[in-house]
Amino acid sequence: MDRIRKVFERALAAHLPGQDLALERPKSGEQGDLAFPCFHAAKASGKNPAQMAAELASQIHLGIEGAQLIAAGPYLNLKLRPEARAREVLGGLLSGKPYGAGEPNGQKIIVEYSSPNIAKLFTIGHLRSTMIGHGLVQVHRFLGYDVVRLNHLGDWGTQFGTLLAAYKTWAEKENSDLTKDFEWAEEIPEKRRTPLFRLFQLYVRFHDAEKENPEMRDEARKWFRELEQGSAEARRLWTWFREISLSEFQRIYDRLGVGFDTLEQGEAFYEPMLQAVLQRLTDHGLLKEGEGGAKIVDLSDVGIETPMVVQKGDGASIYASRDLAQVTYRKEAYAFDRCIYVIGGEQILHMKQIFACMEKLDPWFKGRLTHTPFGLVRLPEGKMSTRKGNVIFLEDVLDEAAERVAAIIQEKNPDLPDKAAVAERLGMGAVIFFNAMNDRIKPITFEWNRVIALDGDTGPYVQYAHARICSVLRKAGDEWSAMAAPGPHDSRETALVPFPECGVPADLKGLEAPEAQSLLFELAGLPSAIRVAREQLMATSIARQLLAIARSFSGFYTNCPILAADNSPEVRDSRLALCVATARALRQGLFLIGIEAPEEM
Ligand code: ARG
Repeated sequence: MDRIRKVFERALAAHLPGQDLALERPKSGEQGDLAFPCFHAAKASGKNPAQMAAELASQIHLGIEGAQLIAAGPYLNLKLRPEARAREVLGGLLSGKPYGAGEPNGQKIIVEYSSPNIAKLFTIGHLRSTMIGHGLVQVHRFLGYDVVRLNHLGDWGTQFGTLLAAYKTWAEKENSDLTKDFEWAEEIPEKRRTPLFRLFQLYVRFHDAEKENPEMRDEARKWFRELEQGSAEARRLWTWFREISLSEFQRIYDRLGVGFDTLEQGEAFYEPMLQAVLQRLTDHGLLKEGEGGAKIVDLSDVGIETPMVVQKGDGASIYASRDLAQVTYRKEAYAFDRCIYVIGGEQILHMKQIFACMEKLDPWFKGRLTHTPFGLVRLPEGKMSTRKGNVIFLEDVLDEAAERVAAIIQEKNPDLPDKAAVAERLGMGAVIFFNAMNDRIKPITFEWNRVIALDGDTGPYVQYAHARICSVLRKAGDEWSAMAAPGPHDSRETALVPFPECGVPADLKGLEAPEAQSLLFELAGLPSAIRVAREQLMATSIARQLLAIARSFSGFYTNCPILAADNSPEVRDSRLALCVATARALRQGLFLIGIEAPEEM
């Protein structure tokens, strides 16, 4: 559709020089394939939009075979005749080139996402940053950007003082791996009895004990000071706790198919740079004394009333100072065009302060730093927090998703080969799709029936449509099913494996039915959904487009027999070609969100 879009834009530009010519997609293929809303242009020339649409329809001659221009109220619609639409869309999807991909554009984008804290477990809230970030990585790469994937691990800060103090108080004498011979409370399930969970428990226990004995805080402070000053014992324990955490995090990242270019650039990495950061603030006259000897930066002149604290009264470093160092370092190390931070909405003020302060220090940063906030995940009962008892651990959610899918498979398709592996792929698909499909900013409520349902707006529904097409293609023969399978796809993270080139059948009359036409229309919407995902900084538009494609496939499948004995070979081949195109679009779209597309389920 890109070629047609360009011709249309050029024709419009010739008639309306200097106007904003943004094209839209009509609501349905009945109306057309592309729409030009005449509101702005009409206003500029003092006309009424409907009159302008009608004039343009009679004046413009596109010279594209099978394309007609139709005025519909204030819109000028370009509509392809059935055969032309089929040729255009199939041509794009069967060429073998990823559909809607961009050429390398030389722009470097950093995406920082996930960024969990050491010694805590992933909760369902971490799913959002991790998967929104992964989607942004995929979409930017696909569109031709050079992407750096970073994880700002929370591996430094006063909470490590707490952890060290807790370990020293209760666990040091136990044993070397924290779990051997440890008497777990009965309610802790077997799979949770890990070193990481032990650390997490110690941390929580210290917080609770501290409520009774506030002087325990001094012990925690002392340990953080030791860590900052490089005491060998503090450093050794820190390294160990960090390793314990990373190995468990890695297990979750593997299940989600997510990776990073390095895990070495967490908060601790910036510790040696903090003095220079404070010095730079001083040199620019930005560092002020705050309450109790704290050091602050006043940002009220740029409309931020809350001053940013960059050092505590006792001289301890603080989250914000490590963020200032991080931005500074990334400019030097990566000379990025844009750095996107996928961090929850509760840190909006913090990020505003960091960005404003960096722009004061160096105007180079203006327009290059983007915070992509997101809303909380709630359970039907209420908010979740690490401190309270009602936390939902991400791993439990992932396990339950796979178990629920396994039960459905057991009921519907007990003979499926490799059932457990398929259940895992569908389970992850369900959870990842649920995140992608929901608005980024609004809080979302996690309810199983909205996550898994095979007939709802879910990942498994889209995966099922894909598997069903693969099964039709298998029945049609090897040469057809080879067209939808891009070879091994064991890692979701590597680039999309290209599909083989597949010719567009000469006769496309089998695709004139309205159901085939509306499927073609939805397929054509994928490239713009991908562009929108980049603009909106979340893959929601892609998830929704996949649902639209899967739904219209179902209409096509019900109404247009594909392998029926009384079909002519031409009708059969054109419909199989549409199946191949649809399978490719679904697989590609799922890949961009970070979801696998099994061929059988
Ligand atoms: N570790 C932090 C948290 O869990 C998120 C870090 C976000 N990134 C940053 N550059 N501040 O809240």
